[in-house]
Amino acid sequence: MVYDYYAGGANDEILLRASRTAWDDIQVRYRVLRDVSDRSLSVQVAGHALDWPVIVAPMAFQQMATPEGEVATARATCASGCGMILSTLSNRTIEAVRAATTGLLWFQLYIYRDRGITADLVRRAERAGCTGLVLTVDTPILGRRERDLLNGFHVPAEFEAPNLGVNMRDALASRHSAASALATFIANHWDAGIAWRDLAWLQSITTLPIYVKGVVRGDDARLALEHGARGVIVSNHGGRQLDTAVPTARALPEVADAMAGRGTLLVDGGIRRGTDVLKALAMGAHAVLLGRPLLWGLAVEGETGARRVLGLLRDEIDLAFALAGVRAPAEATRDLLA
Ligand code: FNR
Repeated sequence: MVYDYYAGGANDEILLRASRTAWDDIQVRYRVLRDVSDRSLSVQVAGHALDWPVIVAPMAFQQMATPEGEVATARATCASGCGMILSTLSNRTIEAVRAATTGLLWFQLYIYRDRGITADLVRRAERAGCTGLVLTVDTPILGRRERDLLNGFHVPAEFEAPNLGVNMRDALASRHSAASALATFIANHWDAGIAWRDLAWLQSITTLPIYVKGVVRGDDARLALEHGARGVIVSNHGGRQLDTAVPTARALPEVADAMAGRGTLLVDGGIRRGTDVLKALAMGAHAVLLGRPLLWGLAVEGETGARRVLGLLRDEIDLAFALAGVRAPAEATRDLLA
């Protein structure tokens, strides 16, 4: 059940597969004889210095992978010099996760029908010292995840979900046949009516910068900036929402053009190899979000496993840079892509 929840996508999982192959389909016009003996992967993302251009994506219920849950992820990202986004649907508190890393930590938010719950979460994230809010906009309701439906997906009853804002443990832990407890919870509590005006509302209650996650079109990216977002995350939720949506590797150039250097631009979905990261930067992303591989690391060996996964990817990015004639992220430009 847990493996299927982590690994799966929506419907026929066509987008899940395409998310990977879209990166594979792009080729690198590498440069030669550029003296790549000295290389740096460090980037500035919204004022944060990252040793390398990766942030761990917000992913729900990490205690299902390892007992320490999101605290293990936070420690691993801190030790590895990358960033982390904490999901609303986490098993550890914002405060405990904040205490486990000195690095970039943003809080990912959904908007509840009861706006008071969302406002409370925002205040907690601010007080805890998170430096950004990520508003996920591709989930007005949950996608049709057939693996979860078949498994009757639910969260183990003894787990906490302390950032939900409501005591939803019972709802998430109850097992319905041929239904996902998560889908039922979301339908009951999150607001499918959210619209651009709610971004303005969110801004009115916080001083934190807001990043809009789940955009795949240039016009939507422009709207996000016009409504005051500080940046955009090109994402389709790792193929878990609308199947056959456009893969992010294909959406990113359009969004980068529309943003024209205004605001922070991040991307996720199917990023597995160092070359994928090089391609994303060449298209205009400032950094990428890493999803499922982190969960595999956690599941194998907790914090140590997560560090190992991050280390593998970091080494691959460095190798891709060297072989492509790129000495620093600023040198990853669009002419590298064919
Ligand atoms: C997610 N994702 C997600 N996104 C979000 O904004 N809030 C959330 O709570 C979750 N939860 C979640 C759980 C699991 C198990 C997965 C796999 C994903 C989506 C996530 O942030 C990201 O967009 C994708 O996972 C990126 O794709 P890859 O790297 O997993 O292919």
